[in-house]
Amino acid sequence: MATSEFFLPLLLDQEDKTSPLANCIRNNYRHLRKWGNRTKTNCFRIYDRDIKEYPLAIDFYDGRFCVHYFTSSREENEPREDLYEAAMSALTLLFNPPLKAIYWKARIKRERTEQYEKTDDTDEFFYVFEYGVRFIVNLTDYLDTGLFLDHRETRQIVAKLAKGKRLLNLFAYTCSFSVHASLQGALFTKSVDLSNTYTEWGRENFLTNDLSLKNNLIIREDCLKFLEKERTIYDVIVIDPPTISRSKKMEGIFDVQEDYPFLIERGLELLAPGGTLIFSTNSREFTFDKSLFEDCTILDISKKTIPLDFHNQKIHRAWQIFPKREMD
Ligand SMILES: C[S@@+](CC[C@H](N)C(=O)[O-])C[C@H]1O[C@@H](n2cnc3c(N)ncnc32)[C@H](O)[C@@H]1O
Repeated sequence: MATSEFFLPLLLDQEDKTSPLANCIRNNYRHLRKWGNRTKTNCFRIYDRDIKEYPLAIDFYDGRFCVHYFTSSREENEPREDLYEAAMSALTLLFNPPLKAIYWKARIKRERTEQYEKTDDTDEFFYVFEYGVRFIVNLTDYLDTGLFLDHRETRQIVAKLAKGKRLLNLFAYTCSFSVHASLQGALFTKSVDLSNTYTEWGRENFLTNDLSLKNNLIIREDCLKFLEKERTIYDVIVIDPPTISRSKKMEGIFDVQEDYPFLIERGLELLAPGGTLIFSTNSREFTFDKSLFEDCTILDISKKTIPLDFHNQKIHRAWQIFPKREMD
C-alpha cells in the first residue's frame, strides 16, 4: 500500500468574526484534519451547504479545493458573485492557497440524456489518499473528479465483505470499490464500465497501488449486455449506477428507475450461496419496490454509508440484499 507524500496543512491562525463561512469551514476542517491524519485520508468535504446563505459544497483534495455551486439552468453557469467572493476570501484566510488551487464546478440539474463527456483538456492529474489507498483525480477535465467522496464508507463496507472472496463491480467508473477490495484481500475482482476513459483510469488506480491486473479484470462494456451473458459466480456484487445515461456505445438510454429490477435480479442469479449484493443510487426520486424481491432480505444501509463530512443525508441511498434462503 502506497503511503508516502501524505500531508494535511494546519489552518492559518487568522480569526475573522465577520465571516460565518470561514468559521464554519475552520470548525469542520479542524475536526477532519485530525481524522484525516489518523486514517491517512486527504480528500474530504470541508463544507456541505452548512449555512443556508452559502449554498456551496467544498471538497479538499490534498491542498486543492473543489467548490461546487448549484444552478438550475445551463445558461446560469457562473457562480453568484457574492458566493464566489465569500468562498475565495474564506479559503484564502484559512489556507492561503494559490488561486489556481481553487477549482469551481457547476452542479447543473442534468438533462435526462446527459453523457459523461469531457469538460476541459488540462490533463492535470494528481494523487490523493483515502484510508491509505492512492487514487488518481482530476478536478478540471471531467464532470466528476475520479473519486466519489460520498461513497468512502460504502467502499470500506464492500471491501470488508469481499475479503478472501470474489467481487463484481458494475458501473465501476475508476474502479475505486475494486481497488479497496483488492487491497483488503479480495481473491478476485471484475469491474465493468462502458467508458474507455474510466476503465483506463481504473487500470491506473490499480497500478499506482502496486496491484496486479491478473486478478483484477476490467471490462469495457454496457453492464446490461454484460449481465445477459455473464456466467461467473461472485460472493459480493456492487451496483452503483448513474441515474440516467446515454452513450453511442449502448442501445437506448439507461434509466436507474426502469433498469434496476433487471440489474438486481440478474445480479442475484450470479451470487454464490452466502453472497451479498449492494445496490446504491444518488437519485432522489428513485423508489425501491421491495415486493419485486420477495425471496430476499433487503436492508437499507444508507445511514452507515454516509461519511462524517457529508452533512446532507440525502446524498445517496444504499441497500444490502441477501437471498432469503441464505439467511435461514
Ligand atoms: C455514477 S458513476 C458510477 C460510480 C462508481 N460506481 C463509483 O463508485 O466510483 C457512473 C458510471 O457508469 C458508467 N456507465 C453509464 N452507463 C453505463 C452502462 N450502461 N454500462 C456500463 N457503465 C455505464 C459511466 O461510464 C460512469 O463511469
